[in-house]
Amino acid sequence: MAEVHTMTALLDVHVPSKRFGDRRVLDNFSLTLEAGEIVSLVGASGCGKSTLLRIVAGLDREHDGTVTLKGQPQHGVSRDIGVIFQEPRLLPWLTVAQNVGFDADAARARDPHVFTLLEEVGLSQVADALPKALSGGMAQRVAIARGLFNRPPLLLLDEPFSAVDAFTRIRLQELLLAIAREHDTTLLLVTHDVDEAAWLSDRVIVMGGGRVLDEVTITEQRPRSRRSPALTEARNRILEILEGAHVL
Ligand SMILES: Nc1ncnc2c1ncn2[C@@H]1O[C@H](COP(=O)(O)OP(=O)(O)OP(=O)(O)O)[C@@H](O)[C@H]1O
Ligand SMILES: [Mg+2]
Repeated sequence: MAEVHTMTALLDVHVPSKRFGDRRVLDNFSLTLEAGEIVSLVGASGCGKSTLLRIVAGLDREHDGTVTLKGQPQHGVSRDIGVIFQEPRLLPWLTVAQNVGFDADAARARDPHVFTLLEEVGLSQVADALPKALSGGMAQRVAIARGLFNRPPLLLLDEPFSAVDAFTRIRLQELLLAIAREHDTTLLLVTHDVDEAAWLSDRVIVMGGGRVLDEVTITEQRPRSRRSPALTEARNRILEILEGAHVL
């Protein structure tokens, strides 16, 4: 007889309401992520995507919602949740390796794990360089390595590639996917790029007015061709939902 397993989701978020002054930014927002999923959030500027990510990251606690990771209610920032922002936010006086291991004490910036991560993102040659010597794409790769330093089961990314050129962006998407697989990391990614969302994700959540409008599931196997008809279909469906909500 088959055993019955009760699956606990990796992440459960429910925010009945989040306000900035009189303005209600999140309105009955709920999201559940299973371990290993890659999920994107798309929606118009100002619809509450970054606010939601900051709540999940524990960076904003002024709300009446709950964030549960592996069944544990979260209260504030946690090493189990990594965050990558739009800009790399490196400390200019620290070397690349020190920036990656920054969360540890100074001695652990020499941690072999730092060098493994730098190798994975293709930056072992510049471990001792200062951030000012890096291109935008390289700096964002440092931020990816830093986001993975604590081996978080969940990595949040807020428009991580929007400041780099189109070719670098494609390479970083491939790198992110490979690394997420290698480290068993679940990804929750905010992006304005509907093609990026479709290519990377298992599910795309379309937000509007602080709530979930709809979601699109993408079952296409990986590795995925960027020209696959299934991805075109997913992208069109996302655009249709946004248009239906008069966001486009
Ligand atoms: N600290 C804050 N104080 C007051 N209002 C804020 C604050 N942060 C965000 N807001 C407002 O909350 C709303 C949602 O902002 P948020 O940054 O979550 O949007 P977003 O979906 O990430 O937009 P974008 O796509 O432009 O990044 C906006 O109207 C914004 O002006
Ligand atoms: Mg934002």
